[in-house]
Amino acid sequence: MEKTWFLHLTAVSLTHCFLACLAMNGSYSTTDQSALLAFKSYITFDHPHHILATNWSSATSVCHWIGVFCSKRHYRVVALNLPNMGIGGIIPPHIGNLSFLSYFNITSNNFHGHLPSELAQLHRLNVVDFGVNNFGGGVPSWFGNLPKLQYLRLANNSFTGLVPPSIGNISTLESLNLRSNFLEGRVPEEIGHLPKLKTLSMGFNNLLGSIPPTFFNISSLQWIDFTSNMMSGSLLEDLCVIRPKLEFLALSGNEFDGQIP
Ligand SMILES: *[C@@H]1O[C@H](CO)[C@@H](O)[C@H](O)[C@H]1NC(C)=O
Ligand SMILES: *[C@@H]1O[C@H](CO)[C@@H](O)[C@H](O)[C@H]1NC(C)=O
Ligand SMILES: *[C@@H]1O[C@H](CO)[C@@H](O)[C@H](O)[C@H]1NC(C)=O
Ligand SMILES: *[C@@H]1O[C@H](CO)[C@@H](O)[C@H](O)[C@H]1NC(C)=O
Ligand SMILES: *[C@@H]1O[C@H](CO)[C@@H](O)[C@H](O)[C@H]1NC(C)=O
Ligand SMILES: *[C@@H]1O[C@H](CO)[C@@H](O)[C@H](O)[C@H]1NC(C)=O
Ligand SMILES: *[C@@H]1O[C@H](CO)[C@@H](O)[C@H](O)[C@H]1NC(C)=O
Repeated sequence: MEKTWFLHLTAVSLTHCFLACLAMNGSYSTTDQSALLAFKSYITFDHPHHILATNWSSATSVCHWIGVFCSKRHYRVVALNLPNMGIGGIIPPHIGNLSFLSYFNITSNNFHGHLPSELAQLHRLNVVDFGVNNFGGGVPSWFGNLPKLQYLRLANNSFTGLVPPSIGNISTLESLNLRSNFLEGRVPEEIGHLPKLKTLSMGFNNLLGSIPPTFFNISSLQWIDFTSNMMSGSLLEDLCVIRPKLEFLALSGNEFDGQIP
């Protein structure tokens, strides 16, 4: 699934960028440059001679920096792709100035701290993959204000508190993965209002209560994972009849009862 997403986005938004990067003549946005230099200044490297430490040099255009991709026409940063880089630190508020950013992948690193509210300014965000880091605090409710978000993965972090109901306002959302955090309380019924949701992973948290009935109204749903929570209640008897697209339903490690549909 994740690979498909990467390929999909590569096709949609990055292909032209790769071509653009070849045709570049050194143009870039100084706003983007200062945002990324601020980001760099907060990064802690697991190795002093880390490639990013030298590669992200103000002597070259940000569009030539490793993991940074720019748009063809205006040389604005549209993608940050820095997974598995052995980097950590906090995300500074300056990242909120990358106003053309649509793809943000820093999975499998060692970032920590709260997600700054300035990220809510990134209205073009399409894909956010912050999985497998050590971010903490609440899952920010401002995710609900990102009008183009299709993929949100915060899995394997240390997020606490409730799942914000505002997530139910991201009508473009297709994939939500909050697996392996310390989330608690009930699953908000607002999530059942997401008309395009295909995959939902909330396993390995401390969620309570039943699956909201609104969920079974999402006709696009293919994948549901609530493994290892403290959820209860019964399932709709005719679930498999009304939701023929459902391919995967993982509910083990809970206290569900009643009949298996
Ligand atoms: C982020 O990068 C990792 C490593 O390349 C990849 O496996 C994952 O699919 C990417 N996430 C998204 C949403 O593209
Ligand atoms: C080079 O940069 C200038 C702006 O500095 C821009 O007008 C021009 O189109 C660019 N040329 C190419 C080939 O990208
Ligand atoms: C940074 O890395 C990119 C991609 O690997 C490379 O094309 C570029 O030449 C490097 N720049 C510097 C200054 O090392
Ligand atoms: C970028 O954001 C920071 C913090 O959010 C702000 O103080 C700064 O003025 C902004 N810089 C630019 C160049 O827009
Ligand atoms: C994510 O969390 C799950 C469940 O706690 C664990 O089994 C898995 O190994 C973790 N993945 C990574 C990449 O840390
Ligand atoms: C969802 O958006 C509507 C309209 O903008 C707003 O009134 C409502 O408060 C939002 N819901 C949440 C839970 O944020
Ligand atoms: C499901 O959708 C139907 C038709 O749109 C609506 O009448 C019903 O109230 C919805 N049920 C829930 C639990 O949201």
